[in-house]
Amino acid sequence: MKSLSVVVIGATSGIAQPVARAYASRGATLFLLARNAEALSTTASDLLARGASRVETMVADVQDSARHDEIVHAAKGTCGTIDVVLIAHGILRNQQEIDHDVDEMLRLFEVNATSVLSLAQRFGLAMESQGAGTIAVITSVAGERGRRSLYTYGASKAAVSHFLAGMRGRYKPLGINVLDIRPGPVDTPMLAGRPQPLIATADAVARDIVKAIDRGTWLLYTPWYWRFVMAIVRLIPERIMMRLKY
Ligand SMILES: NC(=O)c1ccc[n+]([C@@H]2O[C@H](COP(=O)([O-])OP(=O)(O)OC[C@H]3O[C@@H](n4cnc5c(N)ncnc54)[C@H](OP(=O)(O)O)[C@@H]3O)[C@@H](O)[C@H]2O)c1
Repeated sequence: MKSLSVVVIGATSGIAQPVARAYASRGATLFLLARNAEALSTTASDLLARGASRVETMVADVQDSARHDEIVHAAKGTCGTIDVVLIAHGILRNQQEIDHDVDEMLRLFEVNATSVLSLAQRFGLAMESQGAGTIAVITSVAGERGRRSLYTYGASKAAVSHFLAGMRGRYKPLGINVLDIRPGPVDTPMLAGRPQPLIATADAVARDIVKAIDRGTWLLYTPWYWRFVMAIVRLIPERIMMRLKY
């Protein structure tokens, strides 16, 4: 029987790594993309030691959209049929860090949104004749309401969630699930030095992600309580939202 084939974009991410480890322990074939060659090679060795049947790597910056077709082609070359694509890369900046640097603001949007749309669409096209598979993308609960402290990051995640909702309609009849993963704060390098309430471990979030992919879920709040927190946050009137400082 063919082993599961999993593509991870942003494979050195704190959340992506335990997801990849879970698939490695199932004997999966993995195609990993990241921009830090050294960290990527360490991750690849670790996954092989944990039982992956094959691990191939590619070093690329996702901002280089001219390489996106090459990325999909290389992933297909390794995996043949792609069972799961996890798009996990991203950057976080508080709005005040980039408020006076509009170029950096747009760069954040390019990394978190434009590159994700491009890769999700290209992988979708490459997978459409398969009749099965999952395109899983990590967005955020931060994408649900515009907030003074985080509105470029939030907008980048909202754009991706909106895009995924449409993609889901296109790909569902083709047997491909499009999963929108919306974590709350997770203890990874992204939040280093940014204390947060209700912070989850990357291992717990990764377990939820793998379970959601296995079950064919299309929207995951992780940990689970964020579904209820966000149901309340969505009801907050805009005139109150705009006064909140965080
Ligand atoms: N941590 C949280 O609280 C949280 C909450 C909700 C959603 N998320 C989302 O979850 C995803 C994973 O985040 P994380 O917490 O695991 O963060 P992380 O540990 O900081 O990982 C982010 C990853 O993105 C990669 N990356 C950034 N810019 C890139 C680029 N231009 N090209 C290629 N790779 C790039 C980084 O690679 P380098 O090491 O080379 O920089 C790193 O591997 C992100 O989309 C994030 O927005 C995180």
